[in-house]
Amino acid sequence: MLSDDYNEEMSFIPIETKKFFKNKKVLITGGLGMIGSNLSRILVIMGAEVTILDAMLPLYGGNIFNISGIEDRVNLVTGDIRDQNLLEKFITETDIIFHLAAQVSYIDSMSDPLLDLDINCRGSLILLECCRRLNPKTKVVFAGSRMEYGRVIYNPVDEEHPTEPLMIYGVHKLTAEKYHIMYFHDYGIATTVFRITNPYGPRQQMKHSKYGIVNWFIKMAMTGQVIKIFGDGQQIRDYIYIMDIVNALLMAGASSSADGEVFNVGSGRGIRFKEMIEEVIRVVGKGTVETVPWPNNYENIETGDFIADTGKIYRLLGWKARYDLTTGIQKTFEYYKAYREHYWA
Ligand SMILES: NC(=O)c1ccc[n+]([C@@H]2O[C@H](COP(=O)([O-])OP(=O)(O)OC[C@H]3O[C@@H](n4cnc5c(N)ncnc54)[C@H](O)[C@@H]3O)[C@@H](O)[C@H]2O)c1
Repeated sequence: MLSDDYNEEMSFIPIETKKFFKNKKVLITGGLGMIGSNLSRILVIMGAEVTILDAMLPLYGGNIFNISGIEDRVNLVTGDIRDQNLLEKFITETDIIFHLAAQVSYIDSMSDPLLDLDINCRGSLILLECCRRLNPKTKVVFAGSRMEYGRVIYNPVDEEHPTEPLMIYGVHKLTAEKYHIMYFHDYGIATTVFRITNPYGPRQQMKHSKYGIVNWFIKMAMTGQVIKIFGDGQQIRDYIYIMDIVNALLMAGASSSADGEVFNVGSGRGIRFKEMIEEVIRVVGKGTVETVPWPNNYENIETGDFIADTGKIYRLLGWKARYDLTTGIQKTFEYYKAYREHYWA
């Protein structure tokens, strides 16, 4: 089965979540990207009225092919979350907002910190202000990042772990998180924040390796290029398959137990970098690896091993990740085998 067939995924979604979204008006900022487009496809099947707002900024994953087949069932607005006048036009109509639009690259956040500030903080604040003034009954689910934690002191990392980000991206995601939680406490807007680990899967951009490293290695293997590992490849990460994230977003969007809460969203399993690459090569059936020294100054931004503790979201919403790394890589590989020309030349 190709990974753009959503029947299997639909069977994992609780019935009450499916019922909840039927006929709901849903706004997805950044909806042409990986997370937003996979989410849109499921929401359309559930009978939600989906509006996608996406600026199609060239560095990120916005891709019109991501919504092929559902383009006539979503309302696509090409525009920027920083455009307050534009947001005001349809925010009053919205029941739930999945706020996913972002400057996504932690690497670019260091070379252009003001752009990161502008999109990730000012953009989020413009959105929240529109909600406060025009539609405080709307619900907002925001995609934050594990980068908010910074250097890892203990594993698995729970939501109480100190947040001392090492990069501008993490500082601004943490700031945007605090805006969301503040708007819950001060204005009663039902906001939920996710701290997402390392996502991968169909519909992620394949233009560069600044984020989405599993996908990038799948491309490297498929195109017969050498996969470079920094150091000995023993660093541990928590890789989460896209459809697990989509399911978590839906469950949070549908449940008042998520209001005002911050949740880790990860697989809860630690995998060594080297093991992930070996699995990519095994599944793709080709690819070579080369070990290279860590780049200069990398130790300043290296968080150390990371495994998410997902106990809180399981306790409050009943969500846990279902996909193992092998299945996720297989599905991702199948997708790009079928549709690669839409992601790289
Ligand atoms: N991909 C990751 O590694 C990762 C990890 C943790 C959290 N997240 C967060 O999840 C969210 C979705 O990421 P993704 O993986 O789908 O990335 P993506 O690049 O595939 O999608 C991001 C989308 O946002 C759009 N966008 C960017 N700036 C915008 C703006 N100012 N106005 C409107 N649209 C804009 C882009 O055009 C793109 O379509 C982001 O908030 C990201 O920070 C991503």
